[in-house]
Amino acid sequence: MNIKKEIKYFIIIFLIIIMLFYLINNFSRYNDKIKKNNNNQSEWLNCYYADPIIFAERIPKLKIEQNESNITYMHYTPERFKEKLKEYLHHIENNFNSKNLYFVFSPGGTTAAISACYYAIQYLEKKKITIKSCVKPPYYTLHKKLANYEKNSEWIDDINKKTDVEVVVSPNNPTGEILKPTFTSKYILLDSVYDKPLFSNKYYTLNPWKLELYKNPYFCEVNSFSKYGYAGVRVGYLITSNKEIADLVTKYFEIKNLGLNSWAMANYEKNIPVIFNKSFGKENYELVQKRHKEIREIIPQRFIYSNNNIPLILLKIPANIFYKYKIKIRPGEEFATSNDYSRINLMVSEDVWKNILKRISSENFQNDIKFLK
Ligand SMILES: Cc1ncc(COP(=O)(O)O)c(C=O)c1O
Repeated sequence: MNIKKEIKYFIIIFLIIIMLFYLINNFSRYNDKIKKNNNNQSEWLNCYYADPIIFAERIPKLKIEQNESNITYMHYTPERFKEKLKEYLHHIENNFNSKNLYFVFSPGGTTAAISACYYAIQYLEKKKITIKSCVKPPYYTLHKKLANYEKNSEWIDDINKKTDVEVVVSPNNPTGEILKPTFTSKYILLDSVYDKPLFSNKYYTLNPWKLELYKNPYFCEVNSFSKYGYAGVRVGYLITSNKEIADLVTKYFEIKNLGLNSWAMANYEKNIPVIFNKSFGKENYELVQKRHKEIREIIPQRFIYSNNNIPLILLKIPANIFYKYKIKIRPGEEFATSNDYSRINLMVSEDVWKNILKRISSENFQNDIKFLK
């Protein structure tokens, strides 16, 4: 009898413990939810640059492992890495032909490759060189900043002037426009960081004119892995048929002691099959298209200055309006336009994206943009 009673008590106590556990658990979840909602209101949301987390969120296979003891630097790119990259470029660009082309890897992404390229040209020309964009603003001002940073190169704002170099960023950041050289300069530098199936769903280059230009010794292309979710862990590359330029660019990295990080190289090498995978490309493309559509449902077309080739949207809305809603956005001055413009990067995490949409669809935000010209 007594034993039965004990079992009964035991069961009751057990049930009470489970109930308490359930209540406490739910209460803390509820609290977390409230906290999250409150945070959502007051936290800054970043759409200034791409957040690599977006790739890791969807691609569990994409792993960046860090083995501190393995970090060493080298001046030269291992041949097998070049071969692997060429193989995958053939895979994603149907008519790519790497024959007679030199590949130089850059330890500082496209950014360092551009500087190295300006250096090589200035060295070959034996004078201070002038550089311009092939189009009027908006364009990404990185090339201008790099040109003006060095003593022996200068950026020219007038696109009608004949310069030593013309820069073609195609698709153009931030409009997505496909551009071509004007052929008013001796050297042509193509920055094709956004020419990827990831954004276009096309398995050939959006710049077919470059195929002919690969034969031209005054043509260079720069690209990098940073738009594959590796912003920060930078490895870029330069392609040219001009051996002198390739050697000088290599020398630039060597002299400036910018060795390639072998840890980053090893990770890229491992992940190349994932990031160049066609289904990864397609999945990402669909996400970018969805986000383009969502933003166009909230922001009237008259404010939008980008097409859907690119995971970016230039808006004729001042950054200050976004700042009011704690949205960190890139101001127009970074695209050589006035600050009446600003640019959203669509490659942000799902959570941040949803909150951005929520804030910009609010009545207050809509009222703030209603009378903008
Ligand atoms: C057009 C363009 N070129 C170059 C870069 C820099 O690329 P990386 O990260 O490889 O230095 C960017 C980055 O935003 C870009 O938009």
